[in-house]
Amino acid sequence: MIRKHFKGYNFIAVPETGLTLRWGDDFSQNPYMAPWPELADISISNYCINDCSYCYRNSDEKGKFMPLTDYKQVLQELTHEKFGSVFQVAIGGGEPLLHPDFNEIIRTTREDYGIIPNYTTCGKFFTPENLEITRKYCGAVAISWDPYRDNLTLDELSQLGKLLEEEKIRANIHYVISQSTLEDATHMLQGEYDHYLESFNAVIFLTYKPTGRAQVEDTIRSPSLLQTFLDAVDEPRTHLKIGFDACFVPILLKTTHTDNDLIDSCECGFFSVYVDENLNVSPCSFCNTEKYSYNLKKSSFKEIWQETLSSYRDYVDEECKLNCSQCMKIDDCRGKCPFFDELYLCDLVVQSK
Ligand SMILES: C[S@@+](CC[C@H](N)C(=O)[O-])C[C@H]1O[C@@H](n2cnc3c(N)ncnc32)[C@H](O)[C@@H]1O
Ligand code: SF4
Ligand code: SF4
Repeated sequence: MIRKHFKGYNFIAVPETGLTLRWGDDFSQNPYMAPWPELADISISNYCINDCSYCYRNSDEKGKFMPLTDYKQVLQELTHEKFGSVFQVAIGGGEPLLHPDFNEIIRTTREDYGIIPNYTTCGKFFTPENLEITRKYCGAVAISWDPYRDNLTLDELSQLGKLLEEEKIRANIHYVISQSTLEDATHMLQGEYDHYLESFNAVIFLTYKPTGRAQVEDTIRSPSLLQTFLDAVDEPRTHLKIGFDACFVPILLKTTHTDNDLIDSCECGFFSVYVDENLNVSPCSFCNTEKYSYNLKKSSFKEIWQETLSSYRDYVDEECKLNCSQCMKIDDCRGKCPFFDELYLCDLVVQSK
């Protein structure tokens, strides 16, 4: 168990389960931000051979790999002399399993820096070696699977789930919800896929972002499809555990019975941070402006986290809740996404009622 206690901020993380708890001066208080991030999202490449039509990173065969030395520099930068390191890194890409140094990246993260690595993959490139490394060092893996993808059939996904279970690797499904996948996602909540997914730990729904190869036309825009999905969230027939990314939290808070204490509004730049394969640091992997992007070759991570990112935090505090004054959940929510207006769904459902 790792503990980090500072004035106004307490944090406990359990490496075995991935459970994290955070509170302020007492349990009724929520800290404004962490003195040092709890999680870093790191893209170790922008290389991929899958060519998914919705890839927000635009990853392809020309994509760059982050050199191993740069990766180690990032972990070094993420370690503070007093606060220690981040608790976990979420490794993405590109396709992480195609990075030539993937196994060493995972090993060094845990063994040399004491950080728990997790990663997201399309699930096609497992080998006995990377499975062994994953079992030994990773907290969990996420397998991306949704109707956009044709890389794994349901039967193949089911077999992969069983393999990962046998290997004692905790695996979640990452499922992107957009206008065109929302209906299928509702079927998932209604239990139609349970038979295939029983070996997985949970399904996490990720909100579609219209950037990279992802077209704006497929952002969620149908109030009725969204409402049906939200109704299914409130009364799921699936036996699977379900979760959501931070981007979907405002609409969950506003319209469902989901327990506020169990969900965190967007933590980017306040409790978590993103680093890309070129060592650019920004609040979130979906940050679409140079304004909040800083390079580790020019500034230290400490300076970026403790000083430079304050302009982003001020922006969020001042601008993101401008439409939220009538909302009962305003105190629990960080408001609309600072990068994509399309992710603001609260209006959509309210309009439809
Ligand atoms: C860019 S991929 C990189 C990791 C790996 N190649 C994979 O596909 O899982 C990381 C995650 O982003 C999701 N993703 C891709 N494009 C997206 C988009 N336009 N909006 C939201 N999530 C997206 C993927 O489904 C995946 O779960
Ligand atoms: S979403 Fe993942 S698998 Fe698909 S092209 Fe992008 S990086 Fe590759
Ligand atoms: S900054 Fe926007 S895209 Fe990033 S996690 Fe927060 S709500 Fe989602």
